[in-house]
Order: sequence, then C-alpha cells, then structure tokens
Amino acid sequence: MQNVSISKLNKHIDQEVSISGWLTRIRSSGKIAFLQIRDGSGFVQGVIVKNEVPEEVFAKARHIAQESSIKVVGVVRKDERSPSGVELGLKNVEIISKPVSEYPITKRDHGTDFLMENRHIYLRHQRPWAIMRIRDEMIRAVHDFFHERDFIRFDAPFFMPTAVEGTSNLFEIDLFGEDSAYLSQSGQLYAEAGALAFAKVYTFGPTFRAEKSKTRRHLLEFWMVEPEVAFLEHLGNMQLQEDFMAYLVKRVLNNRQRELDILERDVALLEPTAAGKFTRLSYDDALKLLAKKGEDLPWGEDFGAPHETIIGNSFDRPVFIESWPTKTKAFYMQPYDDDPTRVKCDDLIGPEGYGELIGGSERIHDYDLLKERIKEHNLPSEAFDWYIDLRKFGTVPHSGFGLGLERSIAWITGVSHLREVIPFPRMLTRMYP
Ligand code: 4AD
Ligand code: MG
Repeated sequence: MQNVSISKLNKHIDQEVSISGWLTRIRSSGKIAFLQIRDGSGFVQGVIVKNEVPEEVFAKARHIAQESSIKVVGVVRKDERSPSGVELGLKNVEIISKPVSEYPITKRDHGTDFLMENRHIYLRHQRPWAIMRIRDEMIRAVHDFFHERDFIRFDAPFFMPTAVEGTSNLFEIDLFGEDSAYLSQSGQLYAEAGALAFAKVYTFGPTFRAEKSKTRRHLLEFWMVEPEVAFLEHLGNMQLQEDFMAYLVKRVLNNRQRELDILERDVALLEPTAAGKFTRLSYDDALKLLAKKGEDLPWGEDFGAPHETIIGNSFDRPVFIESWPTKTKAFYMQPYDDDPTRVKCDDLIGPEGYGELIGGSERIHDYDLLKERIKEHNLPSEAFDWYIDLRKFGTVPHSGFGLGLERSIAWITGVSHLREVIPFPRMLTRMYP
C-alpha cells in the first residue's frame, strides 16, 4: 500500500493509503474516535468507528497518547468542511513509539514564556508550522528573485576584523587571548568586493547585533539578504528593493494561502504591496509628516520605533524614506554632489508598525573621500585597507541594500514579535533551547 503525505491526500480520493506521522489530538466516545494526525506536510483528521474495525484496533486507537508516533491505514474521503479538503476513514493504527511522559503542551492558552521554553516541541504545532512554511517560501523566493536577474550568491564571512554598522552593538570574540574578532553585523563590505568581481551578487546569512533593547523588532541573531550591484545608482537601487519586496509578497500570496488562513492574516493588507509603486519620501518630508502628527524632531535626528510606526501607518504599502542627513548614517554612504550634507540612501518602512524592513544606499566609490570618512568616523584604517583597495582599482558607482528576513516575515505573516518567525530565537532574554 502506498505511503502518502498528508499534503497529497487530495490526489488519492477513495483510495486506501497509509500515513506515517504523529498524533496531535484525540477525541473519542465509546463508538467513534477522531484522531488529529500530522506528518510535517500537513494536518488531517482520521475517523475510526467501533463497529467498522476489529475490536482490538478500536480499543488501541481511542487511547493513543498525544505525540505518539504512528502509522495509520485508511480510506481518503472528500470532506468540504475540512481545511485540507479530505478526511481519513481509519482501518488500522500502528503505534511506533509512545511518549515517555505526558506531553506538556496540552492547552490552547499556554503563555508565551512557556511556549518559548518548549520551542523545540512547540514547533510541531499548527501556528509555527504555518509561519515556518512561509519563511521557507520567502527564502526560496529570495534565491529565485536574484537568480532570475543573473545575480550570484556570494558568501561573506561571519568572523570580521571590523565593525560595519557602528560599534555600539558589536559582539566581540576572543581569539585565544591573542586578538579579537567580531561577529558579522552585515556582509555588505564583502559583498562590495563581490560586486566588483561578479557585477551582481547577494549574500544571505545570519548576522549578529548586540542589541540591549528588548523590543519585539530586535533579535541578537537575524538573517539578512544583501544584494550589491556594480554600476547601480541610488534610484535604481530603490527600484530593485521595490521589485524585490513586491515579489516576496506575491510569492507568499500565491503559494501559501492555507498558511495565511491558519494565521488569520488579512491578505487585503498585503495586496497593495504586490503592485509596487511605493511612495518615496525625502527625510525632510518625513520630518514634516511627523510634525503634522504631533512629533517634532530636530533635523538630523534618527527615527525611533514610534516615528517609524507613525510613518508606516500613513501608507497602505511599504514607504521609502530617502536622502538622510550625512551625519545620521553610516560612513560608507555616497553624498549628493550638490549637497554633501545628505547621502544617497533609503530606509524602507513597513506598514502596520513593523518598522524598517530594508536599509540601503549607494556607496562611496571615490578613494580620497572614503579614506577621509573612515578617519572622521575614527575607524581603524589598517583593517579597512582591503576595502579601500576596492576604490583603487576600477572603482565604479555601486549600490546595495540589506533586507531583514525576520522583520519581513513578521509583517507578511502579521505576527507581532520577531521571536516567532525564526525557529530558535536568540534574544537578551532567551538562549534556550
Ligand atoms: O539597516 P541595517 O543596519 O543595514 C545594514 O546592515 C546595511 N549594511 C545593509 C546593506 O546595505 N547591505 O540593517 C538592515 C536590515 C534592517 O532594515 C532591519 O530589517 C534588519 O536588517 N535588522 C534587524 N532585524 C532583526 N533584529 C535586529 N536586531 C535587526 N537590526 C537590523
Ligand atoms: Mg538601518
């Protein structure tokens, strides 16, 4: 008999099949039992009726403990009421292993701390199942988007000799008491070397920030996608970001409807993004918008989470804030020729309070200017020699950006806290499991 995954059951209507999986929940009376079964690909209800199977089969089935691993045999029946469209008329149940002690996740209303403490097994439940499948879809979409556009994936190291994004949130690593290195905050500087070798590259990997703040938008370890493109300037860079974000949203809307349903995500809030056409606000216009909403900020101030929320909530899709004050941003950003107090950069702010999804910029390509900036920022110039070399030999305007994977997943799934969208979150308050 054919062993079938739950996700493919609808191709086997009226056939007898077997499923290998786990028992997630059971309800039974003296005459009938309903077994909720999962196999990783999906969830399905199996129904077993006392007088349709041998007595010992029914007796065994109605007492299976939650999270026993099982193999069942049954006939696939169409069932309009079920989310998977089918149900299984069970004929036999084989128990592969029984729990050693009672499975701890039993109630619907366990608190967040309890579920996070039991993350290693909570991942089996329907909500994380839906979220992780959307995460997987987005990761695949990342690779498809860039490969369709002739980028190559280019891996940056995770141990770094220097800071990239400021020194306040660096994780320092002791190298046998002799020297130190830092965990990567961003692969960008290495992606720039890649762009001058391969023209279009993207890095994709975990990045680390020692954020002492305990907000719902910050993790110590998060994944970032960082494309870098030779000969691309600021406006083209924003267009690439817009196309990329629209592509990610479309992929999830098209391929992960069931998962969005499970999460009760209002997809009407995602649809505008699929059409692109994001508003581009200058930093100065963003300040004016904030002032209109009662938040006066002095020119040059960075935005905090509440400001990003106000701006994000003013639009039905992500919004760019471009052309920031030079002094507010990183050392490597290219200033405007006619106004060196501003740099050619952008933050892409998500709607619904999800904050900054992308940060991007055109990079300084002039040798002297870059050297000057490194000095102004008091960065150790020896460690940047190789990076400066990129401006010595065949330098060209180039741009790139970093998309925070977890921020983007959180927004697309409508999940409020980033800890839920990565399998094992790393935060100030959580290192276990
Ligand atoms: O804006 P950031 O700091 O940009 C960079 O690192 C650039 N070097 C990227 C580049 O141009 N190649 O970070 C990029 C994105 C943010 O917009 C945000 O989505 C996410 O990374 N991010 C975080 N996500 C989760 N937890 C944190 N602590 C994050 N810090 C930044
Ligand atoms: Mg940023």
